[in-house]
Amino acid sequence: MAIWLPEEFVERVRSESDIVSVVSTYVQLKRRGNRYWGCCPFHQEDTPSFSVKPDDGFFYCFGCHAGGNIFKFISLIENVSYYDAIVLQAERLNIPLPEREKSPQELAREKKVSELREVHEMAVNFFHNCLVMTNYGVAGLEYFHRRGIDDETIKEFKLGFAPDAWDKLSSAFAKRNISNSLLLESGLAVKRQQGNGEYDRFRNRVMIPIMDERGRVCGFGGRIIGEGQPKYLNSPETVLFNKRRLLFGLDKAHRYISQAGFSVVVEGYMDVISVVAAGIRNVVASLGTAFTVEQCKKLLRYAPAIYFCYDSDNAGQEAIARAVTIAAETNAEVKVVQLPDGKDPDEFIQKHGAEEFKKVIAKAVPVVEFQLKHIISHSDINGLEGRLRTLTEMLPVLGGIKNTAERSAYVSKVAQLLSVSENDILAELTKKGHAVVNMQKTAKDVRKAVRKVENATNRSGRVIIRMIWEEPAVIDHFVSMVPIESLPNELHRQILNELADKYTKGETVKDIINLPQLGEEAMAELSRALVEDLGEEDNSILYEACVRQLRRHYLAGQYEVHSMAADNLYRQGDEKYHDELALSQKIKHEMDELQGVNE
Ligand code: CTP
Ligand code: MN
Repeated sequence: MAIWLPEEFVERVRSESDIVSVVSTYVQLKRRGNRYWGCCPFHQEDTPSFSVKPDDGFFYCFGCHAGGNIFKFISLIENVSYYDAIVLQAERLNIPLPEREKSPQELAREKKVSELREVHEMAVNFFHNCLVMTNYGVAGLEYFHRRGIDDETIKEFKLGFAPDAWDKLSSAFAKRNISNSLLLESGLAVKRQQGNGEYDRFRNRVMIPIMDERGRVCGFGGRIIGEGQPKYLNSPETVLFNKRRLLFGLDKAHRYISQAGFSVVVEGYMDVISVVAAGIRNVVASLGTAFTVEQCKKLLRYAPAIYFCYDSDNAGQEAIARAVTIAAETNAEVKVVQLPDGKDPDEFIQKHGAEEFKKVIAKAVPVVEFQLKHIISHSDINGLEGRLRTLTEMLPVLGGIKNTAERSAYVSKVAQLLSVSENDILAELTKKGHAVVNMQKTAKDVRKAVRKVENATNRSGRVIIRMIWEEPAVIDHFVSMVPIESLPNELHRQILNELADKYTKGETVKDIINLPQLGEEAMAELSRALVEDLGEEDNSILYEACVRQLRRHYLAGQYEVHSMAADNLYRQGDEKYHDELALSQKIKHEMDELQGVNE
């Protein structure tokens, strides 16, 4: 969790920064009037629609609508959170970071994370060196070369080899003072069933490091050489390794995704490696699990379109069908790449080469076409009954097409395919399909309205509860900004008081789930806080936004109190009214500032 950056600090970094010179290090700008223009770095274009307005300190692209202040620009171009962008810019300007006392728990967690990062970093080098510099790696090197992976690609992905022995890594790391417990926690070693000690998890496998979007190693996939089970052995889940969120290759792909305007999602590690080696760089893989909404949202940060290119076998096509349903929950523009032959992208490229693969990508079909084909692929359309069943399955797909012209084009395609009349399909669509469309629309509208009406302060309260639940040390900072008693929601006050109580006593805060005094309603609200979707926002940004929201509410109350007091004193002819007035003005000022930082 990021520390809180005081407003004065952020303001200082902002005022000492020159947006034009920062942007110019990435984009060639030309001045026209009071604006600067250049080609947008966030999407592909030949004529400049990206502009910088130094007076206001903003940039905006009329092509892809990316825009914001200098920190937003840095966070987009460097792929870091808003918070980190401020820190990065401060470092560039040599402005010292503000210090905040951290709680022992916070420090302990930070220490753990950094130890894990370090040990993973060591492991990447260990495996890589084994592969490229030692005799142990000969078999691995042969394996990669046989699969058409050259030394440059091996270097770029930092591929490695885990020696065919029980404790090469464990003993090497012990010598370098890595504790057993850290080794076990990282998942690089496993405890022996009998007796003491541990042994290497990865043995006699080629090693593929898995990085997060910033290129930090989070875990490994180890592939067996040749046949055998399991084909891939992966790191266990750790604080660093979260399969639902990570996308293999994103650290290398994100800039290319922004440029191309779409990402290509494949199934396997080796697919990414082959596709990148073939010169197509906007490609990532989900980690052997189903594609998740989190991964989808992550990709949408870089480009609005996602192309799925999975194995051409049944399992692959089923997986696409699931993935496009997931993607439909967001506003992604989805296309499907269909490999004419060859089981997966890697095999296709080995067989037909990079140019053919590029052609196949260019022929990606809209998701509707894929869905209709997919339905056909498991339907029998010979008999009348089969055709009607197929049509029934297709109606929701057709009904879901928003563009009317597009819809009638597909209706006529389907009519031909199933030898039924277009009018019959249209009739069915108005009977059922329209209901489908409208229902979806209504549900969406209602959800939207509810979301809007729902008090934003309440949501902020729940987010704070959730974050304290997951990281109790946060409470220190939170209460220094927002007194618990000032929260508008009584249930939130109850929950937070109990959490704070446990925390000060040094007990496990999660135990409050067993407290009888926490009533049913509070319990329900707590559960809601724990399951609610936090959205795609970076946690520290979300936290800051929620604290701002709640602090504004707190300040509004304080303002009321002090301005009324000033009023009363004034009427009584008491000179002390000056102090109250000054205080209320100060509060008002902070409220205005908080309002201002809301992007
Ligand atoms: N996978 C896994 N564990 C397994 C099998 C698969 O984690 N036992 C994941 C890996 O991320 C793998 C992906 O699922 O990359 C796709 O699996 P598969 O298609 O079987 O492997 P390929 O990528 O084709 O691997 P290869 O080309 O090396 O055979
Ligand atoms: Mn493969």
